Amino acid sequence: MQATAIAQPNIALIKYWGKRDVERNLPAVGSISITLRDLHTRMRVAFDDALGGDLLTVNGVPDEKMLPRLSACLDRIAGTNRPGARIVSDCNFPIAAGLASSASSFAALTVAGAAAAGKSYTTAELASLAGQASGSAARSLLGGFVELSNAGDDIAVREICAAEDWPLAVVVAITETGPKPVGSTEAMEISRRTSPFYARWVEQQPEELAVARAAIADREFSKLAAIAEHNCLKMHSVMWAARPPMVYWNAATMRCLQTIRRLQGEGVDVFFTIDAGPQVKAVCLPDAVPVVEAALRGTDGVTDFMTTGLGQGARLETDT
Ligand code: DP6
Repeated sequence: MQATAIAQPNIALIKYWGKRDVERNLPAVGSISITLRDLHTRMRVAFDDALGGDLLTVNGVPDEKMLPRLSACLDRIAGTNRPGARIVSDCNFPIAAGLASSASSFAALTVAGAAAAGKSYTTAELASLAGQASGSAARSLLGGFVELSNAGDDIAVREICAAEDWPLAVVVAITETGPKPVGSTEAMEISRRTSPFYARWVEQQPEELAVARAAIADREFSKLAAIAEHNCLKMHSVMWAARPPMVYWNAATMRCLQTIRRLQGEGVDVFFTIDAGPQVKAVCLPDAVPVVEAALRGTDGVTDFMTTGLGQGARLETDT
């Protein structure tokens, strides 16, 4: 009746932005991500007949705000007549600041919840369950380079390249750790309803997925860099043109972009990507890490940074 799972966040290189079915949380577009190694969420789920409802602590602090979303996820995993659950979540990076904490949280919750409930779901079923809670969470079930595709009436995830087969590194430049002004779920709907660029975004995605897939298959860094930066800037353009506009960047975000452009000009293999928050993720070849770290450390407004390689998908921990 109890299990612990660990999952790493993932960073999309070809982004998920927009939903084709809000009720079932099905994405409007496919996406490709890399699963990180050194950032994690550890989630322990213990069902207990004596509990009247669910209880959640995040990094040791009771959290009622996130609880309904986690409870709904456990209902889908274990059925609505399940016992109450004691959920303990520990995360070693800032939550809700555009660092995909929901991805690692819901991937870990899905794996731990299924094990605690004694269910043996297939990867496809786990992806569907995690994805209903948070679209990007389905990708954290797998490691390395992961593609999420819209498969028929649901979604599917597959590893398209193992972490060790193209061991890229990511330097995350933290510029602010407060929670974001608009959550991505709401921001996607505002984009869909009001952005004049939204339809074109959805239409062009298959082409960009194909370019990224080929770049990954051929380990062509500069080709992947070009398509990932383009896709990221296009996603933000969709938001900037929405009403109300949604701008997740701050001045330091922009300065990081300038730093990365300068490095690229010096021949360093690095590119940027930015999600629904002000942090900048610099993806680079492992040899470039010291120079990328030094350049971002010297960028005004960067308060901290984290460097990581690529890692595995969500998994159970054996100590329960
Ligand atoms: C910008 O997966 O957080 O990080 O399905 O509404 O929970 P919901 O959205 P979420 O959105 C992630 C958006 C993104 C891009 C990406 O990870 O692909």
